Amino acid sequence: MRHLTVCLMLASVAFAQPPGANYDEAKVPNYTLPELLKLNSGEAVKDAKTWREKRRPEVYSLLEQQMFGRAPGRPERMTFELTSMEPNALGGKAVRKEIAITTAGKTFSLLLYLPKGVKGPVPVFLGLNFQGNHAAAKEAGVKLAMTWPRASKGAEVVATQAAETSRGGAASRWSLDLILSKGYGVGTVYYGDIEPDYNGGMKHGVRPYYLKGKAEAADDWGAIAAWAWGLSRAMDYLETDKAVDSKKVALMGHSRLGKTSLWAGAADERFAIVISNDSGEGGAAISRRMFGENVKNLNTSFPHWFTGNYKQYNERVAEMPFDSHFLIALIAPRPVYVNSAQEDQWADPRGEFLGAVAASPVWRLYGKKGIETDKMPGIHQPVGDAVGYHVRAGKHDVTDYDWEQWIKFADRHFGRR
Ligand code: GCU
Repeated sequence: MRHLTVCLMLASVAFAQPPGANYDEAKVPNYTLPELLKLNSGEAVKDAKTWREKRRPEVYSLLEQQMFGRAPGRPERMTFELTSMEPNALGGKAVRKEIAITTAGKTFSLLLYLPKGVKGPVPVFLGLNFQGNHAAAKEAGVKLAMTWPRASKGAEVVATQAAETSRGGAASRWSLDLILSKGYGVGTVYYGDIEPDYNGGMKHGVRPYYLKGKAEAADDWGAIAAWAWGLSRAMDYLETDKAVDSKKVALMGHSRLGKTSLWAGAADERFAIVISNDSGEGGAAISRRMFGENVKNLNTSFPHWFTGNYKQYNERVAEMPFDSHFLIALIAPRPVYVNSAQEDQWADPRGEFLGAVAASPVWRLYGKKGIETDKMPGIHQPVGDAVGYHVRAGKHDVTDYDWEQWIKFADRHFGRR
């Protein structure tokens, strides 16, 4: 009986993962990570000044050119319009606003909850969402989004008005009561408003405005960089809202949006904290481990996410001049939090942990502590200081447990209690 239970448990873990990938630690190849603290000239990086002035720009341009692509800066023309305001949202716990951000030929809506009865500008968690803003909260009043289906490769799809029944459909991922009770605001934007997530969806997003009929270059921005750019536009708004402490905005993203939060935090240093949940391949996980999803899987299933250049590494992962520790390190010296779910083997929890470990030396240059061990912690045992990490039980998701850790992390680094 015990044997049967163990077998069933293993089966359910295995079936939670797409088949055909390596899930065997013994089959992880030996690898050598590219050196983070060495300039392209070969010189060692021994202090924060050299990192900041010389090495960081090298690492940033490498990832920009090879992986995420060149994005435009802050648009010249942009408008913010308050489209709704509810002073007694969530049963009186919050003020709720919807702000239409219009730029680059698109309008995307920021849903913002701010805690009531809290003095002064408040820190805010900001993140993109998958299902439309109305899905983040279980309450009437939030405008129902026009949502895009995630289509398979090349298929043409259209946006449709979300159904009333989809309200609150993702509420378990946005622990609003908990976050607000700790004095934080929460802002979210539907990622499909910035660019629909399918190969070919680009024409409905912000990218064509900048391309203006030009062909895409091998280092032009992919969808992830476009979503990241959208987060910066939400930040542009937050800077204008007096109820928000824009110096204390913690960026959070799950999965593909966790890859996005890392790149958004790298590209825009106004984000004070960056959180990357279950971001896996192309996010926090070390690609060279070839565990779970790999570069080729990413580029095959989601050719629109990254640059054309990135595809050259499909069969040559060991030759990539970077790995995930380069991406994570770009957040330094700001605090960064990486976390995993035990059953999410496709995202390679150990690889995510090791990415955060390998990035940690950069924080040490600043006299800060990152993760000071390469021993993976057990379930529900957060580790690290300026670089934080935890693995929780369960599947690929965002849960209250994750939010509890991020709030503690933000409290610590924002000097709250
Ligand atoms: C797929 C994809 C991952 C991604 C995930 C998600 O599983 O392969 O790279 O992180 O979707 O965004 O949910």
